[in-house]
Amino acid sequence: MNDVVTQIERARSIIAARITIEPRIALILGSGLSELADDVDDPVVVPYADIPGFLPTTVAGHRGELVIGVLAGQPVAVMRGRFHFYEGYSMQQVTFPVRVLHALGCAVLLATNAAGGLHADWRVGDLMLITDHIFLPGLAGHHPLRGPNDERLGPRFPAMVDAYDRELRALVRAVADDLGILLREGVYLMLSGPAFESGAELRMCRLLGADAVGMSTVPEVIVARHMGMRCLGLSLITNLALPDGPPANHQEVLDAGEAARPKMAALIRGLLSHIGRAATIPTSQDRP
Ligand code: HPA
Repeated sequence: MNDVVTQIERARSIIAARITIEPRIALILGSGLSELADDVDDPVVVPYADIPGFLPTTVAGHRGELVIGVLAGQPVAVMRGRFHFYEGYSMQQVTFPVRVLHALGCAVLLATNAAGGLHADWRVGDLMLITDHIFLPGLAGHHPLRGPNDERLGPRFPAMVDAYDRELRALVRAVADDLGILLREGVYLMLSGPAFESGAELRMCRLLGADAVGMSTVPEVIVARHMGMRCLGLSLITNLALPDGPPANHQEVLDAGEAARPKMAALIRGLLSHIGRAATIPTSQDRP
């Protein structure tokens, strides 16, 4: 049989054979942020090329490796580089790694990304905690859960209200406060890319209530929620996406990632150490 559960199990078993810990928290590192994986202790590095269903990453700033080890005391699985819809992959292909990380034992997904800030008074290098999302490709039919639903993975019609875990968001806020990090909050709007938005499209995004725009994260979060994982999203504002501002470019996205890396790293480490103090992380069984 070659159904998705079989594919997940094949990928899971290949990774599991190389590791001795059970990762509980999955981290996806977005554009320019992949160096955070260097902080993982006792890392086992599995190239995506070794994992069936994991694809080549084609974008500069995205490496193709899964790093499993301990970060701030937590057993983690870190995706160094992710897959994007704009690379030509299907939404199911883009989100397959999240299925595998869940099967490996991850109960929490922390997804990071680079995003364009839609507020003129925000600054390049700001961090934004995602409070909610707008999934333009999904609303238009490019949805990772489109097609037959496998009830072993999750329900046909999963809720997305409160997709970004309230308790964990409060924890991020508290950690940012402690560290003196300015934390923006807002709605992340995902569009397919790869072109950056036109001025009129940016005005539309504002009208829809978005605070930042980007080309990732939402498909992964939806699939994680489908399986009952608790989710968090953090955007690094790499550029201001303003209708009358200068055009965005990929190099500034990478440069901003580089400059803000210590801040993002400190926030993630702080978050992980505090999650670690909580007695347990509820699993998908506890939180359907
Ligand atoms: N638009 C879309 N995606 C992005 C941007 C942007 O301005 N910056 C980083 N990712």
